[in-house]
Amino acid sequence: MTLADPGFWRRPPDERLAEFARLRGLDAPVFVPERRGGYHALVRHADVVAASRKPDVFISGPGVTMPRPPRWVRLVFGDSMVNLDDPRHASLRGIVSRAFTPRMVARIADNVALVAEDIVENVIRNRPADFVEAVATQLPFRVICDMMGIPERYRGPILQQVNHATGNTGVAGRRLRVPGRSLRALARLHRIVARVGRERRRYPTDDLISALVTAGLGARELGAFFSLLLVAGVETTRNTIAHGLVLLTGHPEQRALLLSDLDRYLPGFVEEVVRHSSPIIQFRRTVARDHDLNGYPLRAGDDVVLFYTSANRDEAVFARPDAFDITRSPNPHVGFGGGGPHFCLGASLARQELTVLFRELLTRLPEVRATGAPQLVPSSFDNRVGRLPFATAPLIVSA
Ligand code: HEM
Repeated sequence: MTLADPGFWRRPPDERLAEFARLRGLDAPVFVPERRGGYHALVRHADVVAASRKPDVFISGPGVTMPRPPRWVRLVFGDSMVNLDDPRHASLRGIVSRAFTPRMVARIADNVALVAEDIVENVIRNRPADFVEAVATQLPFRVICDMMGIPERYRGPILQQVNHATGNTGVAGRRLRVPGRSLRALARLHRIVARVGRERRRYPTDDLISALVTAGLGARELGAFFSLLLVAGVETTRNTIAHGLVLLTGHPEQRALLLSDLDRYLPGFVEEVVRHSSPIIQFRRTVARDHDLNGYPLRAGDDVVLFYTSANRDEAVFARPDAFDITRSPNPHVGFGGGGPHFCLGASLARQELTVLFRELLTRLPEVRATGAPQLVPSSFDNRVGRLPFATAPLIVSA
């Protein structure tokens, strides 16, 4: 069974990680044959970092997702910044960064705190059963919608499309492919966001969509950017939050340490959850010209896949790589990417959301814990948690 086989991605996480450990021990990256060509699997930390930081050689223009979406997808949906190289990438990222003014960033920080309080308040009042729906999804989704200025009436339909767009990435059928349902959901997402963009162009307000349409972003670019923000920002962060609770539950000694001094240990906890869970499993690059990657020859036109999930367990960089250790320092994980121009645009927002939410949860509900195994959704792209049962009081075990 190879990495190109959907069956591999349905295996339990420990078995997949054992296979990545074996691949890291080989002399060179393996070539994974595939229906449309195949790719070199970069599984070591040093290779993932080197490829991320040489964007003139390892380009994103031909697309960064694996499995590759059908070619018409680019034509219909337009380019999002993950799939662009310089100069277009730098120009789009520059426009977006300019929209994050200090005032906007301060407002977002205040909002993260308010939304986190509201979520925990709801847990206390209503005792929901599923952590993913009631907690993990709520924070990133509401924060991005508030930031963008999405009116309340569009939020339900948008969340539905985000869920469809990211479900079972690639693993539903007999071979790895992008499910049609995901693409249709993306198309609907684009339409909704484009509609909001048109409204803001006519009546600008004090939100990110208004800032971007005023800065001259066209409807297609706007649709592509916001679908990316929603899919990249909601799916990743909610999975990280859910894995965070699973890890806390499974490691009582780390939980006790964290609770002993939240200010001191929360930042290390957040980094270690991202490293240990690797919410994004991989992204692809295409080799622009013949290149020697740490002694391994690559040819122009080759594809490489950067397996963050494997680099984050590389024993050459992390002592006891499978241990969950919130005091790990330094922790040079590649959960947000290996550096370079595409490094996660939302990394500081994600860190802030995780820190604020776990502080609120652990302060008001210090007994919060998972009460069963997470329902993992098979995917070769993200480490997704579908459902997670949880409780906020200690379990009473009868004799
Ligand atoms: C724990 C949560 C998150 C994780 C693990 C994560 C992970 C990643 C990774 C691995 C990349 C690719 C980096 C590369 O190619 O070098 C990326 C890119 C990106 N992320 Fe995140 N992300 C998270 C949260 C967010 C949030 C909250 C947002 C937005 C609000 C966001 C927006 C983006 C965007 C726009 C890109 C593309 C940047 C570019 O191509 O220039 N991400 N993220």
